[in-house]
Amino acid sequence: MTDTWTPPSWKAYPADQQPDWPDSVELERVVGELAARPPLIFAGEARRLTEDLGRVCRGEAFLLQAGDCAESFDVGTADAIRDKLKVILQMAAVLQYSGGVPVVKVGRIAGQFAKPRSSATETRGDVELPSFRGHIVNDFAFEPEARRPDPARLLRAYDQSAATLNLLRAFTRGGYADLRQVHAWNLEFLASSPEGKRYEELADGIDRALTFMESCGFDVGDSHMRQVDLYTSHEALLLGYEEALTRTDSITGEWYDCSAHMLWIGERTRDPGGAHVQFLAGVHNPVGCKVGPTMEPDQLLELCEILNPDRIEGRLTLISRMGADTVARNLPPLLAAVRDAGHPVVWACDPMHGNTFATEDGVKTRHLEDVLREVGGFFAAHASEGTWPGGIHVELTGDDVTECLGGGDSLQAHQLGRRYETMCDPRLNGRQSLDLAFRVAELLPRGRSRAATSLRP
Ligand code: PEP
Ligand code: CO
Repeated sequence: MTDTWTPPSWKAYPADQQPDWPDSVELERVVGELAARPPLIFAGEARRLTEDLGRVCRGEAFLLQAGDCAESFDVGTADAIRDKLKVILQMAAVLQYSGGVPVVKVGRIAGQFAKPRSSATETRGDVELPSFRGHIVNDFAFEPEARRPDPARLLRAYDQSAATLNLLRAFTRGGYADLRQVHAWNLEFLASSPEGKRYEELADGIDRALTFMESCGFDVGDSHMRQVDLYTSHEALLLGYEEALTRTDSITGEWYDCSAHMLWIGERTRDPGGAHVQFLAGVHNPVGCKVGPTMEPDQLLELCEILNPDRIEGRLTLISRMGADTVARNLPPLLAAVRDAGHPVVWACDPMHGNTFATEDGVKTRHLEDVLREVGGFFAAHASEGTWPGGIHVELTGDDVTECLGGGDSLQAHQLGRRYETMCDPRLNGRQSLDLAFRVAELLPRGRSRAATSLRP
């Protein structure tokens, strides 16, 4: 980060994946209005997340980053937000209790609206329209009016982010995330399934542990038990929006992007000379960067140097998304290069984006077995390099959708149509998410063996 960095500095660099806004005057007016709105998060919270991720970086904790591929303006209801929170809390309880590690919880939520696309336009028959870029830009319906990028949507995205964050804060601070509620997080549709029952047993175990601790004189009603930190994150894709919410922290005088606690750079915009990297280089939030199969060690080290020149633990999370078949080959050289260069990073595994395919009917999906295979390959790569498999980054929903194949119901391709609701990538449903959490917990080295296996100096 240079001393000359300012929020609009990114404009001097090529910015991929920006919509072709038809009305630039209106865009400028809206961005001005956003810049006058209150920040969504406080810089001190982002600093606390950096500290929490610092613990992940040192092998003392595990990162669970999870939520929608693309949030929708149509499903910002209290129930949808609560159910997403429930799945995240359940997964965290499983990882923490079965895996024996503290879990840092970060949602892809309260701002995850903008989507990168492989093509700027979509053609159906002889009609060509702008691609759907997420509700912050345009609408999903394949109609000219719906697909026209509309700056007013930036304000709506801000409003929905604020409302979502407000409810999340209420739930996580107001008693809903109290560990003594661990049974209440089991989603109704899930409770009778084998995963739900396994979770009930785990919740019984947590109850017994709490009773035991209480009988020993510990205060199990203290704030560590009653409240959780659920941080927010999204891909920092629309740089005008991110710039408008970037503010100087009144305490340190440093720049923070106050649209979310953590921001990440997507696989399509991670060019070290591009605007997205240059923008996030200047803000002090913890940042992430996707690392796909074409990443070379030299380029990765260049990114580490740009994004974390001061080598602050917890500042940079590298999100590996290789694909189940390539992770064993591609990841170890990258782990070794970063380790040998002495860059402190969190390594997280996104087992979703390298494993997407279309069924014979053209439905975009993922198979839970591929997701699990990639996670397995990720853990194996870390074991061989002596580095810490710091976390997972997944797309899920609390709803009982049918978007990914496999899992406890052995969902088949012809059943995907039953409840396929995503506007973008297919998400794990509650049952598949819980299954994943149990499988990851089994891979985690526990307690003392963790200290012995992780983090060679
Ligand atoms: C995403 O996380 O939704 C995404 C688009 O991922 P990637 O940039 O890794 O393709
Ligand atoms: Co996605």
